[in-house]
Amino acid sequence: MKEIQVLFVLLLAAATAHSQSFHSGKCPKPSVQEDFNITKYMGTWYEIEKLPAAFEKGKCNQATYSPLADGTVKVRNAELLSNGKINSIEGVAKVKNSSQPAILSVSFFKGLPDSPYLVLSTDYQSYALVYSCSDYFGLFHIDFAWILARPRVLAEDVVGRLRVKLAAAGVNINRLTVSDQTGCDILS
Ligand SMILES: *[C@@H]1O[C@H](CO)[C@@H](O)[C@H](O)[C@H]1NC(C)=O
Ligand SMILES: *[C@@H]1O[C@H](CO)[C@@H](O)[C@H](O)[C@H]1NC(C)=O
Repeated sequence: MKEIQVLFVLLLAAATAHSQSFHSGKCPKPSVQEDFNITKYMGTWYEIEKLPAAFEKGKCNQATYSPLADGTVKVRNAELLSNGKINSIEGVAKVKNSSQPAILSVSFFKGLPDSPYLVLSTDYQSYALVYSCSDYFGLFHIDFAWILARPRVLAEDVVGRLRVKLAAAGVNINRLTVSDQTGCDILS
């Protein structure tokens, strides 16, 4: 029990230090995109707004999804660092339960636990709303959210609708930050 308390304090400190979205209690269980078709979701998405994530340091954040032969999906996240270098990371996403196709799990490093990746809403052609939440001991959870778009801009009314959807899922949308998608030509 003592170890768990120590771990809890360490995780709390880490989460706070990285200004991630840390909350007591269990993850919310938002509804996801109905009849999600992953084939239509493939390709590049640009980050419009997000809940702060410590692992994203640059601007022009984008994610490219491409189908792999075994039915899983290759994920490539890229961003432009302030020194002008491109930072990228590759991983694999998969649907764990085919009757819940909008619920994926993404793994970037072998041996580390997968992260959930829930597509809450998408029209495939312009916008997507993605949510990720992990429970710790049933005591607290840390979550991430991304509003994504096919071009590097998204109409304000669509962003507003996605924010409302996220709030309805129980997520504190006051912590959403707007992503910088200017001066990104080197990444396109
Ligand atoms: C998913 O989308 C692809 C590409 O548009 C299409 O060929 C396929 O039939 C769709 N699958 C389902 C189950 O609707
Ligand atoms: C897959 O999802 C369905 C529908 O939500 C559920 O009934 C079933 O138990 C799940 N299967 C597994 C292996 O989790």
